[in-house]
Amino acid sequence: MAEFSKGLEGIIAAQTQMSFINGQEGILEYVGIPIGELATNSTFEETVFLLWNKRLPKASELDTFNKQLRERYALPAGLQNRLASLPTNAQPMHVLRTMVSALAMHDSDPNSLEIDDVRLKALNILGHAPSIVACFDRHRRGLNFIDPDPSLSFSENFLYMLNGEKPTKAMARAFEICMITHADHGLNNSTFAARVVISTLSDIYSAITAAIGSLRGPLHGGANEGVMHMLNEIKSVEEVESHVLGKLERKEKIMGFGHRVYKAKDPRASELQTLAKQLAEDTGNSALYEKSSKIEEVMEREVASKGIYPNVDFYSATTYHCIGLALDLFTPMFALSRIAGWSGHVIEQLEDNRLFRPAADYIGPHEQPYVAIDKR
Ligand code: SDX
Repeated sequence: MAEFSKGLEGIIAAQTQMSFINGQEGILEYVGIPIGELATNSTFEETVFLLWNKRLPKASELDTFNKQLRERYALPAGLQNRLASLPTNAQPMHVLRTMVSALAMHDSDPNSLEIDDVRLKALNILGHAPSIVACFDRHRRGLNFIDPDPSLSFSENFLYMLNGEKPTKAMARAFEICMITHADHGLNNSTFAARVVISTLSDIYSAITAAIGSLRGPLHGGANEGVMHMLNEIKSVEEVESHVLGKLERKEKIMGFGHRVYKAKDPRASELQTLAKQLAEDTGNSALYEKSSKIEEVMEREVASKGIYPNVDFYSATTYHCIGLALDLFTPMFALSRIAGWSGHVIEQLEDNRLFRPAADYIGPHEQPYVAIDKR
């Protein structure tokens, strides 16, 4: 029997061909390609194809993939009606988790585990999820739904359905870089959740629903919203030092910093920092970026020696804010992208499955008598 490892720290629980992470050196590759190369040169759709097929697509294959995805932007009518009936104060991550789960009821064979079927269901979820978020956000703002535009890319169409107007090329590209950098990341908590669920031979809708539930947590995908709350709390760059030192003093975690695997700067944070700086300047949000980089400077001085550096969530907050997204849509954005990774891991698990069933170390009493209730 293996030793107890709290939080499964350091335990290898799966093998994957999608993401390689070197935590000591701050390296992330998707199928061997450095994340910076993909963020600079790839599209989100091409990155999804890479993760699901373990190779880059030929031009004709990418055209086919784009077409298959765009056919799935439109929501089933029943789902639109459900969205329109939701309370407008519902939280977007609860809406996304619930509506992805509801997609199973609009699938004629939701439980099929044939790999080709599962791939198509993954495309379904990937194509529908942005429309779910955009439609709900418009519903809660009292606006009508915008029909998808299949001539637009994943990123362009989401921003179009959300705002009712086509995004600028710069905004669409910034959003796409966020999607590329968040797509997969080894056996993180939400990916593990997806693998655990599908390992019982359940279904992909249940697996992705479980993953969304996990991602909402502030120690995981919810951190990007936590970063924005912190940036809003800190009124000026001059206040950063005292604010950060106070939190460290009170042993409060600084959202967007630290990582179970990275003990160097998360390479995605570097990619998103470059993007955040440019976007902040372009949108008159330079103060936001200056506060962020001051926080990083203080944290570098105070805790870098403990291996605590910015992670993917730290600069994604400023980026999403500058793109014009509401704060409580930040974690749903993480989810839209990570559906790619979750689905890829569901397929990998099905291709070489073994039910996840770790052991628990019983530390309670033994041989206890059953005491009648009137004697307790
Ligand atoms: C994501 O796993 C993935 O790959 C996740 C992810 C992905 O792409 O899927 O990369 C996405 O989830 C990124 C992480 C987002 N979460 C946050 O930003 C929340 C803040 N971070 C921390 O809660 C923490 O760093 C974790 C949860 C991310 C990792 O925590 P660990 O590995 O369990 O480490 P720990 O909590 O045991 O901390 C070790 C020490 C502690 O100090 P001591 O008690 O030893 O003195 O480091 C300190 C912690 O207090 N520490 C922090 C800190 N993170 C760790 N101190 C202040 N601020 C922080 N952010």
